[in-house]
Amino acid sequence: EKDGHDWFMRKEIHEQPRAVADSLLGRRDAAGLLHLDEMRLSDQDLRDVDKVIIIACGTSFYAGLVAKYAIEHWTRIPVEVELASEFRYRDPILTASTLVVAISQSGETADTLQAIRHARLQRSRVLAICNTNGSTIPRESDAVIYTHAGPEIGVASTKGFLTQLVACYLLALYLAQVKGTRYGDEIAEILDQLDRVPDQIQQVLDGAEAVYELARQHTETRSVLFLGRHAGYPVALEGALKLKELAYIHAEGFAAGELKHGPIALIEDGLPVLCVVPPQGRDQLRDKMISGIQEVRARGARTICLVEEGDDAIGPYADVLIRLPKVPVLLQPLVAVVPLQLFACELATAMGHDVDQPRNLAKSVTVE
Ligand code: F6R
Repeated sequence: EKDGHDWFMRKEIHEQPRAVADSLLGRRDAAGLLHLDEMRLSDQDLRDVDKVIIIACGTSFYAGLVAKYAIEHWTRIPVEVELASEFRYRDPILTASTLVVAISQSGETADTLQAIRHARLQRSRVLAICNTNGSTIPRESDAVIYTHAGPEIGVASTKGFLTQLVACYLLALYLAQVKGTRYGDEIAEILDQLDRVPDQIQQVLDGAEAVYELARQHTETRSVLFLGRHAGYPVALEGALKLKELAYIHAEGFAAGELKHGPIALIEDGLPVLCVVPPQGRDQLRDKMISGIQEVRARGARTICLVEEGDDAIGPYADVLIRLPKVPVLLQPLVAVVPLQLFACELATAMGHDVDQPRNLAKSVTVE
């Protein structure tokens, strides 16, 4: 049942090309227009949306952070992303034209469920992005986009996360299509790019020897930092969460621009710092990231850089280079998170931990 893998998690990481492809399947008609048929919200309802609030927990929350960059860029609708456990207790401003998007792999997370109940009482529409047919959160929502990861058994979310990202991109593009924003013309092109992603993930999986080697080198490590910018920032947060959950190593993700506002004080000789470098073409972002990498390295950090293939500017500042296929910055999380999942999985395995059942954790958190 694990397809020759020792862990469900390892199997699920390797299923990601298929899971992403399935989540993209059948969304485009012959004219190239995007359809989200199961969604149950009318185009008029969506045209009326003037604010999106995304609520979720854990890894699903990080998918929501990526979604904010995509939705705001493609649709110009303001997006807030909030931890479900915090949302209800701050008296959020919700109206009938607020679209609340609840992201949950299991569909049973108590914090997220309570948050959508609160939103519906305030007359907001709730759209669930969920991997589990018939679970409570989609049943209590006005609309749903199902992800097609298939059952996720490993406690740490992997293919669940990637398919949530796909659903978020599709939602963002669909909103752009119905609203007729200036990105309308680019939708077909972005969908073409998304269609190439399953092969690109496969490429990352096939070329992961450097990541396995890295994992074997870090079994004695006490602390790891992750840096990213833009859509790479949630990737850094997710990389850190995976390492905490599976290897029980202290790990933190930062927006690289925040370094000088405090975290740089943590840098000491030999501290591993994983850096998600924005792709070429986004040079302002990328140059800032490169200077952040230089700064931590000058203070003794061991820099492990995830860099687009063909980008040679980072070479002199990277102790380890991990190559990523070429994708636009907004889609980069789909390929950049994969080496970080593998790193955590293989490091935890090398340390002798049970990757599928990390201590103190449950697959679905049904208490608040
Ligand atoms: C991390 C992880 C958790 C879940 C979180 C939300 O690997 O699995 O952080 O992402 O508990 O769960 P769902 O998406 O089921 O609501």
